Amino acid sequence: MKKETKISDFISSFSFDQRLAEYDILGSMAHVKMLSKCKIISSGDGVKIINGLKAILKGLNNDKKIPKQEDIHYAVEKELIRRIGPVGGKMHTARSRNDQVSLDLRLYIRDEIRQIYDLLADAQKSIISQAKKNHEAVMPGYTHLQPAQPILFSHHILAYAWMFQRDKERLKDCYKRVNVLPLGSASLAGTSFPIDRKYVAKLLGFRGVMNNSIDAVSDRDFVVEFVFALSLIASHLSRLCEDLIVWSSAEFGFISMADEFTSGSSIMPQKRNPDAAEIIRGKTGRVYGDLITLLTLMKGIPLSYNRDMQEDKPPLFDAVDSMKSVLEITAPLLLGITVNPEKMLEATKNGYICATEVADYLAKKNVPFRTAHKIVKDMVKYCIKKNIKLDELTGAELKKFSKNFNKDISSFLKPDKVVYMKSSEGGTSPKSVKKQIKDLSSLL
Ligand code: ARG
Repeated sequence: MKKETKISDFISSFSFDQRLAEYDILGSMAHVKMLSKCKIISSGDGVKIINGLKAILKGLNNDKKIPKQEDIHYAVEKELIRRIGPVGGKMHTARSRNDQVSLDLRLYIRDEIRQIYDLLADAQKSIISQAKKNHEAVMPGYTHLQPAQPILFSHHILAYAWMFQRDKERLKDCYKRVNVLPLGSASLAGTSFPIDRKYVAKLLGFRGVMNNSIDAVSDRDFVVEFVFALSLIASHLSRLCEDLIVWSSAEFGFISMADEFTSGSSIMPQKRNPDAAEIIRGKTGRVYGDLITLLTLMKGIPLSYNRDMQEDKPPLFDAVDSMKSVLEITAPLLLGITVNPEKMLEATKNGYICATEVADYLAKKNVPFRTAHKIVKDMVKYCIKKNIKLDELTGAELKKFSKNFNKDISSFLKPDKVVYMKSSEGGTSPKSVKKQIKDLSSLL
């Protein structure tokens, strides 16, 4: 049976923008206060409208839904008029849905930025707590996923806490551009009513007003920018989860995840799969998709407002919902990790991980680093052939490679000694890592 498509349903955004109801009402309250202060409407009418809006808001808080209209802006207005009569129609004086929708989005995003900022701080706290608990656990550091140099586990996970710090700064910076008032631009041209935009900005906590009414109704940079910030958070989390997944595999065994973040297999009874971390990793694609949707949506549409822009909300809400659900479990997931320092140390025996240290040892004895690099490369080749480790070379064998080798080389071959040598600022030595923890904690 062919179902009739109703054009009004097709045009409507109510199914998704009704979640902006509260912001729409708060924005309208400030607008009406201004209309009445500027004597554009009488103070009596202003009070009636504001009381009506308050009643709608109260209803919403008690789960009383506003009946469906073309969009949330019409729905609130219609409901207001139903409650207080035609005077409710004065609310829309000196504004348009074009500046109104931008205002609602800005109020919504401001709130979400604050919440996501706090969730990132929670994740940082979990990392700091793990870094303190396992401060001196030594593990192989990898480049190209090949053993590279010994590092501290605490150093490795703190790298993520610094990424989250940048994510927080990015959100803060984005907030600055979100936090400007578009209202008062009306459709696109401004208005002939004697409005006071600065007053509305003050009432709603905006740092200022948008300078160009056409820009104000056309701009969705702040949505794109915010979803980009979320995308980068997703990228960071996907890398973190990849590390956790690899480390928790039987082959690595560096960590185990708390049971509640893993699940079994329906067929293989022995399995504990890192599902939560995998889903976090998987959400990244979804959030990138939202970003690409927004960028594509905004490409090439003429100024000023176009109805295409209504399609900004589903990807925005999806990105926010996805990232909040992800971030809400990130902090407990990180806190629930158990580290196996023995396994980590054991793994540092593979892959000639102290080779760079040996080259540095020679370089410190005045051998040009490039020559030292070649000497150690030959040493490693020799060891691979003999199937031995660097610390199994005899004194005589070492001397054959370079007369500069002395007994003191032995500590340069021990991963748990080598990490102490990396005392440069920001390096992996326990002392440097301690300073990192202090510096980061002071930023939280
Ligand atoms: N529902 C619309 C949106 O989300 C509101 C603005 C409509 N403006 C207009 N001139 N049709 O973008």
